Amino acid sequence: QPQVPKSIKALAAELDSQAPINPIYAFQQTPNIVNDEASKVEDGIIPIIDFGLLTSSNPEERAKTIQELGKACQEWGFFMVVNHGVPESLFQGILDVSAAFFDLPEDEKMQFKGKGILDPINYGSSMNVSVDNVLFWRDFLKVFLHPEFHAISKPEGFSKTAKEYGKKLREIAGEIIKGISKSLGLEEDYFNKALNLEKGLQFMAANLYPPCPQPELAIGLPAHTDHGLLTFLIQNGIGGLQVKHKGKWFNISPLPNAILANIGDHVEIVSNGKYKSIMHRAVVNNKDARISLPMLYGPNLDTVVSPAPPLLDPVTNPPLYKSLTYREYLELQHKSKIDGTSFADHIH
Ligand code: SIN
Ligand code: FE2
Repeated sequence: QPQVPKSIKALAAELDSQAPINPIYAFQQTPNIVNDEASKVEDGIIPIIDFGLLTSSNPEERAKTIQELGKACQEWGFFMVVNHGVPESLFQGILDVSAAFFDLPEDEKMQFKGKGILDPINYGSSMNVSVDNVLFWRDFLKVFLHPEFHAISKPEGFSKTAKEYGKKLREIAGEIIKGISKSLGLEEDYFNKALNLEKGLQFMAANLYPPCPQPELAIGLPAHTDHGLLTFLIQNGIGGLQVKHKGKWFNISPLPNAILANIGDHVEIVSNGKYKSIMHRAVVNNKDARISLPMLYGPNLDTVVSPAPPLLDPVTNPPLYKSLTYREYLELQHKSKIDGTSFADHIH
């Protein structure tokens, strides 16, 4: 088992820009990754959803936006949310306190080192060291925001900003999940009730991808789908997210101040595969440190999730997914290797 260094940030700071990286970070040499050259990756233009229109009191505007949302879920699984009302200062605030966290002395960050996937506060470097034999060029911090808010003591201001950010994004996620519910032909509160979203899991992650001398060999985060219902991502202006669409990888650059949203495995399950949870990954570069902040909105951990019965038909649309609690799902997923396939496919 590889030795995990204190942080990628510390490791990157020690390397000069010509240095070869330790082969344990050479993700592209392992058989697990799709081995496409950077030249084949195109820039993707993903759909835009106007949050003001989605929540409009004008029923026609709302209906039209719900239709666009459904189309975005079916075609890309990714979309940008604009006109959402989150002040730019709050985005900057949460990016600043996240950067300040990674700037803490190594031993102070280590106080937050987590053990398991359901640890409410979890700082670390690789994701699944026990089952993956390469390491990722990423440091991360995860903090659970809901149903209980978990505060961290450092850096100054982190928890206050995270609480405010989490609350704001939770409201937006609640409206989007209602829209998704309607777009599937379900009542707008179907997800709320069936998945007990009032007590749903919500966490934020802060990812730091330091500059890497050999970005073509390393990977920030390998191809995966997100396990929740919705993920909302912002970043510090540096790109790195790639999304698989119709069998090809696309670079995704969000519009300034837009929230980059994608649906997760639990929307795929409830929709019985109508909306697919989409593969994405984070690549690294040799110039700029990138910070991305995904916020994940998911079901209640102990509620059994199944394909929505109103959508099913024994002949034309039988259930394609097992019924599991979100907790059971996460535990199973954590044991399985990240192998570039959607985990949802493993539980048919
Ligand atoms: C993630 O998929 O969790 C993060 C992707 C990114 O850093 O863009
Ligand atoms: Fe993700």
